Amino acid sequence: MNNGETDFQGSKIKDQSSAFDAMDRMYRLQRYFYDVTRKFYLLGRDQLLREMDVRPGDRILEAGCGTARNLIVLGKRCPDARLFGLDASSAMLETARAKVEAAGVENIVLKTALADDFKYGDTFGLSEPFDKIFFSYSISMIPPWRVSIENALANLKPGGELFIVDFYDQADLPKPFQRLLKWWLSKFHVQFWADLMPYLDELGRSGSASLEVRPLFRRYSFLARLKKL
Ligand SMILES: C[S@@+](CC[C@H](N)C(=O)[O-])C[C@H]1O[C@@H](n2cnc3c(N)ncnc32)[C@H](O)[C@@H]1O
Repeated sequence: MNNGETDFQGSKIKDQSSAFDAMDRMYRLQRYFYDVTRKFYLLGRDQLLREMDVRPGDRILEAGCGTARNLIVLGKRCPDARLFGLDASSAMLETARAKVEAAGVENIVLKTALADDFKYGDTFGLSEPFDKIFFSYSISMIPPWRVSIENALANLKPGGELFIVDFYDQADLPKPFQRLLKWWLSKFHVQFWADLMPYLDELGRSGSASLEVRPLFRRYSFLARLKKL
């Protein structure tokens, strides 16, 4: 390996370990009251889960699964699906494991990993890519969001679907509300990436995926669905 490559690997490992540490710091205490508080403002999650057409045997991954709240809903509804969750925060996954056990759901596997760096084989021991992958209020917290979406598409089978639900631009909501929400979200290192929609549009136009994006709740949030072609 030449010095350039060594430097690149070194800075990649440093970035990754700081991403793990940052999320562990953020959720070390929040994980205990995360679900009760977030149900009031992470809007659109249940719509995403309702609209996902899950079939027996489907391999479904949530990237940034947090407390596994979404996976537990899916697991109860579809005991014959194979559900997987990854998260940067091991602390959050500790809470997720306790919740999965308490819910008595048996078809969920959880791993500490980064959205931009997992592989279906190496991370989850699967021999085939996923049927569906979803990001629920995680893409707005992931600075390497482009690489994470590319990585998700690379880990999907052809014809597989990628879903994203997250904060939108709030353009149809009153300006003071927009300002307050942006200020509040910045406290949690959350933001709507201005380049995200153009990037998704470009994916749709390039012929690598078909795209449908729907604004929800006066553009408070959005639901995107990409089908890998
Ligand atoms: C706002 S929470 C959403 C949790 C869950 N998806 C939900 O809908 O309740 C965002 C989650 O993404 C995780 N996360 C942030 N950056 C990540 C990354 N680069 N890779 C994987 N997970 C990440 C955080 O640790 C956190 O658990």
